[in-house]
Amino acid sequence: MRIVSGMRPTGKLHLGHYLGVLKNWVELQQQHDTFFFVANWHALSTSYEDKLNLEELSKELVKEWLAVGITNATIFIQSRIKEHAELYLLFNMITPLGWLERNPTYKDQLAQLKNKDIHTAGFLTYPVLQASDIVLYDAEAVPIGEDQKPHLEITREIVRRFHHLFEKELFIEPKELLSPTPRLLGLDGRKMSKSYNNAIYLSDTPKEVWEKLRGAKTDPQRLRRKDPGNPEVCLIFDYHKAFSDPQVVKEVEEGCKTAKIGCVDCKKWCFESIEKVLNPIRERKEKITLTQVEEVLKKGEERAKEIASKKMEEVNRAIFEK
Ligand code: TRP
Ligand code: SF4
Repeated sequence: MRIVSGMRPTGKLHLGHYLGVLKNWVELQQQHDTFFFVANWHALSTSYEDKLNLEELSKELVKEWLAVGITNATIFIQSRIKEHAELYLLFNMITPLGWLERNPTYKDQLAQLKNKDIHTAGFLTYPVLQASDIVLYDAEAVPIGEDQKPHLEITREIVRRFHHLFEKELFIEPKELLSPTPRLLGLDGRKMSKSYNNAIYLSDTPKEVWEKLRGAKTDPQRLRRKDPGNPEVCLIFDYHKAFSDPQVVKEVEEGCKTAKIGCVDCKKWCFESIEKVLNPIRERKEKITLTQVEEVLKKGEERAKEIASKKMEEVNRAIFEK
């Protein structure tokens, strides 16, 4: 299958990204023709006032992808392939405002991002750009999170409307691939996010990781070492389930319920399991140079550009040469 997905370059990656997105990408790239790109135009739609250095953030993001093991995909930066913008412009001509205004993700974001002025054309038409990203490459499937489902639905609607209006079946209606792993919560039990300051980053040092785990709340009923605990209500147990071997998970579960282990020991094991993942990523990342990142991007861009420009020739013919 041809698979396309993008990520906005808004900051360093954390364990939630790793587990929910990147681990999945690493697997998908083994069996499919995968295109992963840095959605820097999409980042601009919410962060146009933030004075971010999107060029640096984009390259840093690609570096982290490579360090995680995404080495067998076509990787590129969205804004370097101008065809995304061209198709976005054309799709905007045929996308009814109602589809965009009714989009639940749009409404949620407007309600949540109170500190940002996102009453812009760019933010309203975010899904139109996303549709362009996807269908430009004939993607059959798109790995996304739950919140992106409405965008895939709009993508399919735009495709159908285009086919109907211009009487040419140029695009594929993509299906979504929801991430197989449940979302990992942050250290305070809320969604893991930079803005809540509750995340463990792929770039954290072992010391930082340990300090964060050490400070995390556990079962609130387990006040003393000799009290039995309930792992089901403890975040550390979630992390064990995500990162530890099944046998360790079992030991933790029993040890916690019977007060055989203390929370500090439990957190130490958890730390070791997380380090087994983070350490190799850190080591690989250290060795990746910006020149290597640019080489990967150059190769990815060449391939993306070739496919995208062919597609745009067909699109323009269908629209303008009646
Ligand atoms: N909107 C996506 C997100 O925030 C990022 C994205 C942009 C994307 N274009 C895409 C994802 C195309 C999949 C396909 O997660
Ligand atoms: Fe949580 Fe582990 Fe303590 Fe149980 S022993 S409460 S799972 S940290």
